Amino acid sequence: MDLKLVHTRAELAAAREKLGRLALVPTMGALHEGHRSLIRIARERADHVAVSIFVNPLQFGPNEDFARYPRTLDADVEVCAAEGVALVFAPSAEEMYAADRSVTVSAGPMGDVHEGAFRPGHFDGVLTVVLKLFNLVRPDVAVFGQKDAQQLAMIRRMVADLDVPVEIVGAPTVREPDGLAMSSRNRYLSAEDRAVALALSRALHEGAKHARPAEILTAARAVLDAAGPALSVDYLILVDPETFTEVSDDHRGEAVLAVAARVGGTRLIDNVPLSLG
Ligand code: PAF
Repeated sequence: MDLKLVHTRAELAAAREKLGRLALVPTMGALHEGHRSLIRIARERADHVAVSIFVNPLQFGPNEDFARYPRTLDADVEVCAAEGVALVFAPSAEEMYAADRSVTVSAGPMGDVHEGAFRPGHFDGVLTVVLKLFNLVRPDVAVFGQKDAQQLAMIRRMVADLDVPVEIVGAPTVREPDGLAMSSRNRYLSAEDRAVALALSRALHEGAKHARPAEILTAARAVLDAAGPALSVDYLILVDPETFTEVSDDHRGEAVLAVAARVGGTRLIDNVPLSLG
């Protein structure tokens, strides 16, 4: 089936009608190998895959990178075509948001901690656009990367709390050969920044060698500290994957070791899922 690129709600509704069981991969474009892996996982879950490409103004703070976020629609559509995507929805901001809009989704307390504490309002913006995309595309399944672990947890929470009839699938983080987690923001990094940025994945790797929460955090922190002042750490946390509350030192079971840091002008996040026995 040939890929259909649509920009309006009306075009989307007409195209959606012709597709059966549909998996949605919501993105902000600048597609890379990580997105390709989400699309491949989506293909296994449904008859057809839709990809949305929309740089959502609601989830960027006033001093964040909304204006310079990479917009590469032609290249993105080529990636989607190569991956067998049936439908790409690439709306304008005006198509997504009415000028007089006033109701948004509130992320609740989980939206105020960790990533949310450094990016106030970010998760309200993410959940608002994701719910709108679900309502417009009407997917059966939606696939999100585990790299944005708190985002994934919040989307699961929204779907459960608001009874949204979409199955949420989390997909493993894809890394460069040297360990750097793939991200559309990696293209902002200079060669020097990129070398410093490797401390994030190394810290997670070192932390994951340990069994007790305190040891995990100490080992990971030592790697981040060794990177020196070029790396400015926002947070390093070991949390419950569903609630994003920090785990106690006698915690057994699933946990997520997550880090956020700034390198040069670029803010990066990364995490690893851990099973503590
Ligand atoms: O993860 C992203 O790329 C975005 O936060 C998402 C889910 C597409 C919402 O804009």
